[in-house]
Amino acid sequence: MKLHQLANILVALLMVEWLGCAKKPPPSDKGPQAQINKHPFGKTAEGSDVELYTLKNRNGLKAKIITYGAILVSLEVPDRKGKLDDIILGYDDLTGYIQDQSYQGAIVGRYGNRIAKGRFTLDGVEYKLAANNDANHLHGGKVGYNKVVWQAQPVRENGEVGLKLTYLSKNGEEGYPGNLNCTVTYMLTNNDELKITYSAQTDKATPVNLTHHSYFNLAGQGTADILGHELMLKADRYTPVDEGLIPTGELRSVKGSPMDFTSSQTIGSRIAQVEGGYDHNYVLNSDDGSLAQAGQVYEPTSGRVMKILTTEPGIQFYSGNFLDGSITGKDGKVYQKHYGFCLETQHFPDSPNKPEFPSVILQPGETYKHMCIYAFSTR
Ligand code: GLA
Repeated sequence: MKLHQLANILVALLMVEWLGCAKKPPPSDKGPQAQINKHPFGKTAEGSDVELYTLKNRNGLKAKIITYGAILVSLEVPDRKGKLDDIILGYDDLTGYIQDQSYQGAIVGRYGNRIAKGRFTLDGVEYKLAANNDANHLHGGKVGYNKVVWQAQPVRENGEVGLKLTYLSKNGEEGYPGNLNCTVTYMLTNNDELKITYSAQTDKATPVNLTHHSYFNLAGQGTADILGHELMLKADRYTPVDEGLIPTGELRSVKGSPMDFTSSQTIGSRIAQVEGGYDHNYVLNSDDGSLAQAGQVYEPTSGRVMKILTTEPGIQFYSGNFLDGSITGKDGKVYQKHYGFCLETQHFPDSPNKPEFPSVILQPGETYKHMCIYAFSTR
């Protein structure tokens, strides 16, 4: 064999090897592995065991989730120097979550947000729900999905870890029609995202609007208020509300008002002009049900950036207006007004009574689907 022929074969062999490597997933024994483990987190008053699952991705980010309320109890992400901090408000123990009235870290359902007077009519039947927010129904009622124990199953997929939680909400629970089988999966991806996937099926037509209610503080939980965080929302409109925080039905332009976050603004820059602070549903520009970016938050002292992506048509921006120093949370931290913010991907509030809003009615045979990604980086 001539020398150049040998060289050609060698090059071809190297190419094959290189292509093979490019396609192969990274070898499983190299570098840190994503991990998931489980610990007891106490018992409810009814005697049900509650477990705490700790998810860790390859880069060391950690998410802790309990089976009570499918609650995210902590989320550790790095700042620009690589230092991990817990950026979620919450409690040290189960008693804190059982007594909590502010939906800390929880999965909210069957209907996240408000339904006016706790009433709606479906297929000619009027349903009466629990009124737990003055005359209105809020976040699923007196015992919402944040106050029940979910079944959990660890997920390991393509070198990533997650937790799949299921809950069967019975026909008539809190006044809702139909048995609703709910699944919520939290994945902590190796791209530093917390990815929440929801699905649900019913045996009778029912409104469904599940969401996630973490209070974020990207400077670290309990450190200060969130008024210096810079927020951008891809929403040209929002749903104005009456004094009970029920949408009037109008989709109003944010232009020229303190509601405008189409370009990045600090949360505090115009909050004084918004009565009570921000607690509004924004109408996302992307409304075709595909996964699209809804917004971004940047915290200048830590350098943390959180992007939010969702398939939902709306996002509730709540600036922690009802926090008032009465909660002592994790590590003895006292949560003062505006110490956390929520960005809850969702359908619009009071949709069951607003035929002009995108429908929230799930029919038997259909599957409710919702995805929300909180993606972390620094700058
Ligand atoms: C939601 C609501 C707020 C408030 C909080 C919980 O974000 O929109 O009005 O009820 O939950 O305190």
